[in-house]
Amino acid sequence: MFLALGSGTRFLKTIYSSKILRFSTSAKMSLKFTNAKRIEGLDVNVWIEFTKLAADPSVVNLGQGLPDISPPIYIKEKLSEIATIDSLNQYTRGFGHPALVKALSCLYEKFYQNQIDPNKEILVTVGAYGSLFSAIQALIDEGDEVIIIVPFYDCYEPMVRMAGATPIFIPLRSSKPVYGKRWSSSDWTLDPHELASKFTSRTKAIILNTPHNPLGKVYTKEELQVIADLCIKYDTLCISDEVYEWLVYSGHKHLKIATFPGMWERTITIGSAGKTFSVTGWKIGWSIGPNHLIKHLQTVQQNTIYTCATPLQEALAQAFWIDIKRMDDPECYFNSLPKELEVKRDRIICLLESVGLKPIVPDGGYFIIADVSLLDADLSDMKDNEPYDYKFVKWMIKNKKLSAIPVSAFCNSETKLQFEKFVRFCFIKKDSTLDAAEKIIKAWNVQKS
Ligand SMILES: Cc1ncc(COP(=O)(O)O)c(C=O)c1O
Repeated sequence: MFLALGSGTRFLKTIYSSKILRFSTSAKMSLKFTNAKRIEGLDVNVWIEFTKLAADPSVVNLGQGLPDISPPIYIKEKLSEIATIDSLNQYTRGFGHPALVKALSCLYEKFYQNQIDPNKEILVTVGAYGSLFSAIQALIDEGDEVIIIVPFYDCYEPMVRMAGATPIFIPLRSSKPVYGKRWSSSDWTLDPHELASKFTSRTKAIILNTPHNPLGKVYTKEELQVIADLCIKYDTLCISDEVYEWLVYSGHKHLKIATFPGMWERTITIGSAGKTFSVTGWKIGWSIGPNHLIKHLQTVQQNTIYTCATPLQEALAQAFWIDIKRMDDPECYFNSLPKELEVKRDRIICLLESVGLKPIVPDGGYFIIADVSLLDADLSDMKDNEPYDYKFVKWMIKNKKLSAIPVSAFCNSETKLQFEKFVRFCFIKKDSTLDAAEKIIKAWNVQKS
């Protein structure tokens, strides 16, 4: 009785104080309530805005990179078996569950010339986001410059700014598509002279993303060699985001810049379970690199999130072993998923072409971007102060019940204009979702003609 009364009093006190707080907030905001400088101007986020808009179940969602295909059955079964084992529901080793770091080292040793020490050269993180964050926090200082290639996965810029460093942008460029020829992500390249001009004595790192989101570009050996040579010349780190490493289509090959001579010692390579096994909700990622770099990422992790979910790491380790043992087999998920997705990619390309668009055919990843200004959508009702692609996608969600992501969200303020006519469609979707998108897009075409 006494206890119940006590907690009731506390409850009343909370309500009372929150009322006081609300009152004083509206009367005069304390200076102590202002945000820390390091997050100034970083509050707007494309995923928050567009995920909310696409949440309406009547909207066909080709927006966020979120598979609606089933993940492999064995990974789900492993997780449910593991959930019944008491010890695997408790904390595990902070830098990575022993079974998972062992599986990752065995897998990646097949691609690197060197052995990978599971304890010293791998860090398991909360998604690839966690790896990007710990790498940037651990290695980038105030006053450093970090080269970011545009378009870029949107969190790179705010993470660099939160570290107090200056992002230095360089865009991928393409000539206009040639009539009668498909436009490909490989037509988008860096100008080697322009890239060289971005490196200075202040350059601490370059962030590379291959296969690329949102363009689908898979960097070639020659392109990576240019970047590697500059990294070595200017003694620069490379943070290589390779979350789509298995998703590469016919005629293309994913190469790891860390395997280029002189690059292992200066490269952090980042992977994601979400992208590898189509389980984005698991949010497990990893960084691989030399111990003299990984140990600093470990310091960030031990003082921030400390450890990742044990059952997910154990299930992931077991799933990896299933596929490590059959890597040459077409059934191996690393081989079967890109085959399945290539069919979907080609379907969406044909669909977009059928309404007169010129999509950029991706060589990797699971996104297609297209210039949608050719559709002549009437955006006069949309808010004026936004880039064209933001208005277009909002208009499309509202009027066509189809969602996508505006590509200018992947640009810094100076390059937004260059990409604002493009929107990104995600094609890791089951056939029924693609059927629904096809119906919308084809009906649109009929209305237009
Ligand atoms: C290029 C790129 N890097 C990192 C991430 C984040 O991956 P995760 O969900 O594993 O944090 C994504 C997610 O879409 C991505 O596309």
